[in-house]
Amino acid sequence: MSAVPTGKRVVSGMRPTGALHLGNYHGALRNWVELQYQYECYFFVADWHALTTGYEDTSGLPQAIHEVVIDWLAAGLNPGVATLFVQSYVPEHAELHLLLSMITPLGWLERVPSYKDQQQQLREKDLATYGFLGYPLLQSADILLYRPAFVPVGEDQVAHVEVTRELARRFNHLFGREADFELKAEHANKELGGRNITLYRQLRRRFQEAGDQAALERARALVESNTRITVADRERLLGYLEGSSVTILPEPQVLLTATPRVPGLDGRKMSKSYGNTIAMREDPDSVVKKLRAMQTDPARVRRTDPGDPQKCPVWELHLLYSDDATRQWVNQGCRTAAIGCLDCKKPVIERIVEEVTGMRKRAQEFQDNPELVSNLMAEGCEKAREVARATLDEVRRAMHLRPQ
Ligand code: TRP
Ligand code: SF4
Repeated sequence: MSAVPTGKRVVSGMRPTGALHLGNYHGALRNWVELQYQYECYFFVADWHALTTGYEDTSGLPQAIHEVVIDWLAAGLNPGVATLFVQSYVPEHAELHLLLSMITPLGWLERVPSYKDQQQQLREKDLATYGFLGYPLLQSADILLYRPAFVPVGEDQVAHVEVTRELARRFNHLFGREADFELKAEHANKELGGRNITLYRQLRRRFQEAGDQAALERARALVESNTRITVADRERLLGYLEGSSVTILPEPQVLLTATPRVPGLDGRKMSKSYGNTIAMREDPDSVVKKLRAMQTDPARVRRTDPGDPQKCPVWELHLLYSDDATRQWVNQGCRTAAIGCLDCKKPVIERIVEEVTGMRKRAQEFQDNPELVSNLMAEGCEKAREVARATLDEVRRAMHLRPQ
């Protein structure tokens, strides 16, 4: 059984879509790098999720996984701090997916907005598969297996985490029942010891009678930080706070990642499918070439034509990379045609070259030693599996299935 309090865990995943670009970095990875020092983080490559939309040719998968992991390390994810692993190496994800599928109404999955949207957008692919419908369910299993407090994702994934929360609630309702629950919970309350016995009662009453969320949070923290009680008692006490069943799978919360818009070279959002990206580990010469050719305000046909930064994607790069003084210089210079577009691009080119150079440096030893990456992944998978096994044992027990 796991002895780690679950209150501070974070889980997130990323599909292996090949080399990551600066949009991926600023949109997600940079945030993960910060989170790893604040929470107990589990980050994984969602290779099974890649199969939900690309099942015909899977030959590129091993390479894509390898590249993504190197990009993570290049961005500064630290395998000594965060647990990094690959979804399919932890088969517990599949078992929890299966068990959850038994209690998932089809309508919940059919109603997830991305289901119909994606089918329309990717019309050239046959997405009328069970795997694709089950995408949010697999994601729920990914998350619930680690009983995290938070799931850092962008706006597009919020609906998936919402399904996850509903499933956790349904699971606890169906399988969290226990004979003599109240009695056992009362007994567990005593195990908290000393003043915490009364404090727990007071906080529980404040939440149940007045819906005081802060009291609920405090009570949870009180239970989770107590290292003397058993895991079973902890679950009872957490469940007792809110109702009459044991919380086996706590409901995680979205940690919405603030995603700055990263413009691609053509001014549209940077995206692999538009072919307008700069890779995180792009060769610096190529960075310079690409940025020099990047789209600017179309009104600036000649050097002497004034422009409007609001209509220029390069300005968005200044918002990401430049200080106030530089931005002011751009604003003035562009509107009065005092500077040319190449002058304007120079500071961002310098910053981006600096950024990719740093990433390339960090990636080098892993590129030179692929087995280093495999070893890191093997270690991460072992760590993840320990947590996953503990959850699954309790899930099986609650469902009256054979514990292992
Ligand atoms: N669906 C996510 C995406 O496309 C990837 C993902 C898979 C994920 N499993 C997850 C994200 C679990 C967060 C938690 O970005
Ligand atoms: Fe864009 Fe800068 Fe050129 Fe103005 S000067 S159009 S902001 S690149």
